[in-house]
Amino acid sequence: MTNLKQAILQGIPTEIPAEKNINPSISHAPKRKGILNKEEKQLAVRNALRYFPEHMHTVLAPEFAEELKTYGRIYMYRFMPDYEIKARHLEDFPHKSKQAAAIQMMLSNNLDDAIAQHPEELITYGGNGAVFQNWAQYLLCMQYLAEMNDKQTLVLYSGHPMGLFPSHKDAPRVVVTNGMMIPNYSNQDDWEKFNALGVTQFGQMTAGSFMYIGPQGIVHGTTITVLNAARKIDPKAKDLSGKIFITAGLGGMSGAQPKAGVIAKGVCIVAEINTKATYKRYEQGWVDEIFTDLDKLLDRAITARENKEAVSIAYNGNIVDLWERVVERNIHIEIGSDQTSLHNPWAGGYYPAGISYDDANEMMANNPVDFKKEVQKTLVRHTKAINTLSERGMYFFDYGNAFLLEARRANADILKPNGDFKYPSYVQDIMGPMCFDYGFGPFRWVCASNDPKDLAITDRIAFEVLEEIMQHCPDEIKLQMSDNINWIKAAAENKLVVGSQARILYADAEGRTKIAEAFNNAIASGELSAPVVLGRDHHDVSGTDSPYRETANIYDGSKFTADMAIQNVIGDSFRGATWVSIHNGGGVGWGEVINGGFGMLLDGSADADRRLKSMLFWDVNNGISRRSWARNKEANFTIKRAMKINPDLKVTIPNTADDILINSLEL
Ligand SMILES: NC(=O)c1ccc[n+]([C@@H]2O[C@H](COP(=O)([O-])OP(=O)(O)OC[C@H]3O[C@@H](n4cnc5c(N)ncnc54)[C@H](O)[C@@H]3O)[C@@H](O)[C@H]2O)c1
Repeated sequence: MTNLKQAILQGIPTEIPAEKNINPSISHAPKRKGILNKEEKQLAVRNALRYFPEHMHTVLAPEFAEELKTYGRIYMYRFMPDYEIKARHLEDFPHKSKQAAAIQMMLSNNLDDAIAQHPEELITYGGNGAVFQNWAQYLLCMQYLAEMNDKQTLVLYSGHPMGLFPSHKDAPRVVVTNGMMIPNYSNQDDWEKFNALGVTQFGQMTAGSFMYIGPQGIVHGTTITVLNAARKIDPKAKDLSGKIFITAGLGGMSGAQPKAGVIAKGVCIVAEINTKATYKRYEQGWVDEIFTDLDKLLDRAITARENKEAVSIAYNGNIVDLWERVVERNIHIEIGSDQTSLHNPWAGGYYPAGISYDDANEMMANNPVDFKKEVQKTLVRHTKAINTLSERGMYFFDYGNAFLLEARRANADILKPNGDFKYPSYVQDIMGPMCFDYGFGPFRWVCASNDPKDLAITDRIAFEVLEEIMQHCPDEIKLQMSDNINWIKAAAENKLVVGSQARILYADAEGRTKIAEAFNNAIASGELSAPVVLGRDHHDVSGTDSPYRETANIYDGSKFTADMAIQNVIGDSFRGATWVSIHNGGGVGWGEVINGGFGMLLDGSADADRRLKSMLFWDVNNGISRRSWARNKEANFTIKRAMKINPDLKVTIPNTADDILINSLEL
């Protein structure tokens, strides 16, 4: 048996391991807010000690108390494993169940140093998106996964492995809940408190559900958004070619914009105030050129547009200076947006104009009142420039970063006379009606051989399946299909794999099912050397109830309900998912969203074939039926089509009330 297998099977060591230094060369989570009183701190330490035999307590209790004081959380650094955590061939993990081995592979990928944002604090992305709360949970979970068989289910409560429970072969091997709270205990400080106590965690979307695949997920979603934005303003346009898209942010997710802009064949200008972030994206090849001189930058962009060149250009400076120069020079810009982190405006998400980056950071820490005033003054200027350019014909959309909300709070001129925002969000105008309502969402797979050759085979199979579907699909979705065919054709060339051998491909119910079926056949025939894991992120048709993001284009009043996400995860779990997860928070924050996800192992068996057909059909059509009931016409079209394909599907279809009748009512 390999050392790795032995170490995983050991679980929590029986003897106290040597103390560990944290690695200074990797990123670490910021110190969390100290929110517990003395009794609560004692409770947090008592809670942490539950994982260890009593003979270790005299050493561990003061150490955990110190961690709580220094970091605001108890991570149990001493128990970090000595082996490298990363995705490997599924057979490298100790297991009795292949499904459980696949889950080990997926969660290991989420904690890989090359992937995770703060690996030693078990955070994958988004600042607080946790896989586990502490290292004891990791060790115990891996051990359970290594020991379990196909008639057991591992239950995870916010990272805590409650244990293995007898179930049956078609049950999920793991059921994950993250941050599920009694609704009245779900604000930001509740997370701080209960996370510090060690009884809950923020699982983000794909961190605590083991489905993170690095940056390619966001590149594909952003490409689709900008392509469809181009078509919205120019129905004859195939892509962004000959158009300029201006936006801001070269950070975690926003850094995908220039890459996506080029894949969409346009001219993409991105302002970024943090020079380090600008150069990081340049060195990675995600942005082509950097300018600090605005006039030179704009001249370069105009020439590129005339030549229909696909190029990404960074402005190393403040987005507001860029927009104001565009206004002064009266340059027509086709599309505008913004991906500064306005969901976090007072702590570094948005930098005021006229102040250097370093001075702004200093002001933020030492003079937060003036900093807030400067941010709000900048937002007023920002909105004014956007308004002028929009009056001159630019299409502007909010990119889910709370730009509209914060502009309103800053008293900028962002509202229409009826109180609505002047601009739509990207889900209301683009992703909702053009993708989600037709069932297109972020389907993904990971090759359990961890071998790039297998990934290349899956790319080819997926391409062939989509080409075949394209022959007979209705006109309404031809454009989406051709975008996804182009994406998969160029996927290898775009070199997007970081960590596990994974691919994302937006697909609808038919596409997802047929691709999965073809993979399963290829595993059975030996064309693929090992099983494949299927999944998706939660930015999708059915999994997520999030009133200002995924479900922003639901207009029947139900966008503040979370029945769809809950139904989704329950439905997936009895239709054959290998694991399911349901989270509070994710993307937009704790208390603001409920999102569900799944993972499914395809092993080439007849069982896998049965499960994939049953579960994927539900996983998409649950959301389509809800969107149809909300009177979204694209979803209505899609669900009727699904009912024709499967006569066992019978969905309640809404009737439409006449506007004149409704308006005539005395209410
Ligand atoms: N990409 C997507 O598909 C998507 C979807 C929904 C929401 N969002 C939202 O987009 C936002 C950005 O996410 P992120 O992960 O990239 O955050 P991030 O904080 O890593 O990056 C934001 C960047 O904006 C820069 N910035 C801030 N103020 C600026 C200014 N005035 N001028 C120029 N640059 C400025 C920051 O220096 C930072 O590098 C978040 O609010 C996120 O929720 C993104």
